[in-house]
Amino acid sequence: CIPIPIPSGDPRIPSRPDSCIPAFRSAPACGTGYSAFNFGGESNKREQINSLTAFLDLGQVYGSDEKLALNLRNLTSDAGLLRVNTQFRDNGRELLPFHSLQVQMCATRRRVTNNTNAREVPCFIAGDGRVDENIALTSIHTLFVREHNRLARQLKRLNPHWDSETLYQEARKIMGAYTQ
Ligand SMILES: *[C@@H]1O[C@H](CO)[C@@H](O)[C@H](O)[C@H]1NC(C)=O
Ligand SMILES: *[C@@H]1O[C@H](CO)[C@@H](O)[C@H](O)[C@H]1NC(C)=O
Repeated sequence: CIPIPIPSGDPRIPSRPDSCIPAFRSAPACGTGYSAFNFGGESNKREQINSLTAFLDLGQVYGSDEKLALNLRNLTSDAGLLRVNTQFRDNGRELLPFHSLQVQMCATRRRVTNNTNAREVPCFIAGDGRVDENIALTSIHTLFVREHNRLARQLKRLNPHWDSETLYQEARKIMGAYTQ
């Protein structure tokens, strides 16, 4: 923890005695940068633990662990699709599914616009938890999901005998190749 102290009387942030902006460094990966104040250097450079897969396999779209990966798939059909939003579409095009979070931190329209008629919507879910971090990133995630589903549908048309798992894996392989 390397907190940034707030000077007393700072007009932008009402400060209490000893108040600060908390800042936390990620834990170092084993065997790298032991010193708390070693910000790099030729030897023993500090590195963070990667919570996504190390491969260019579009883990950010498909999920980097099995539980999330299964949660993102449409298992009610045999078409190898990724799950999409069942409440909203964009002119007929697919949107990301909503996150089933208890606390809806993306539901801010009323607070921001004061419009009591504004319809609150939950956060989106994708293979990377940062999908809701900014709208440009959300749109790229949306394109990847649409493209997976487009490929899976085309593959099913060409190979009507393929099962859901094969369609999913083959579409995913093509998507991974795009990324690489
Ligand atoms: C799953 O796929 C079926 C068939 O395309 C579709 O009707 C359904 O809406 C999809 N469900 C989700 C959650 O994406
Ligand atoms: C929202 O409405 C309240 C009460 O009418 C008002 O005091 C406040 O300034 C408004 N906020 C915005 C962001 O318009």
